[in-house]
Amino acid sequence: MLDHLKDKNRAWAAGKVAADPGFFERLEAQQAPEYLWIGCSDSRVPANEICGLDPGEMFVHRNVGNLAPPQDANYLSVLQFAVDVLKVKHVIVVGHYGCGGVRAAVDGERRGLVDHWLHPIREVHHEHLHELEAIEGERARLDRLCELNVVRQVRNVASDLFVQDAWARGQTISVHGWVYSLANGLVTDLDVTMSEPADLERLD
Ligand code: CO
Repeated sequence: MLDHLKDKNRAWAAGKVAADPGFFERLEAQQAPEYLWIGCSDSRVPANEICGLDPGEMFVHRNVGNLAPPQDANYLSVLQFAVDVLKVKHVIVVGHYGCGGVRAAVDGERRGLVDHWLHPIREVHHEHLHELEAIEGERARLDRLCELNVVRQVRNVASDLFVQDAWARGQTISVHGWVYSLANGLVTDLDVTMSEPADLERLD
């Protein structure tokens, strides 16, 4: 079963060792990534690959719609480990244009549990209704909602107590908001980076 995946795995591991014989020994001894990536589960947005990073270089959390909900134990566990133990320097929230999660949040159809999961996106949509309704074309409107959702999640991360406490004890950590384009493989920085408590007010 799945022999093609196992074959590719063996070839990949052999390639890594051929290029750098100590690669896996070093990784086994320690992981020390500088980045936490919070992105969408979408198969077209693979975190490491997009940034050209090797295993060990990025701590990754992915869910439908790249959400950072302050009551989600999975996300909070990842965030705390990244901030308190790994001491990452950067948290990057990465949305993507054409996100099915963002579309599903506002298309009015019923799918089940995921509709509850996507509720925070409906809230963002509601809060920015005037801006969004003024945008010509559904696709452009949804793309803007993808951006607004990222900004909200950046705010969630930066206002989280794990990050606030890290800043209070002098730890250097920045929270960034990016959007990835499926069309050309490029990320756009939304310029909402938060590196200290005052940034939460400045970018209100
Ligand atoms: Co998506």
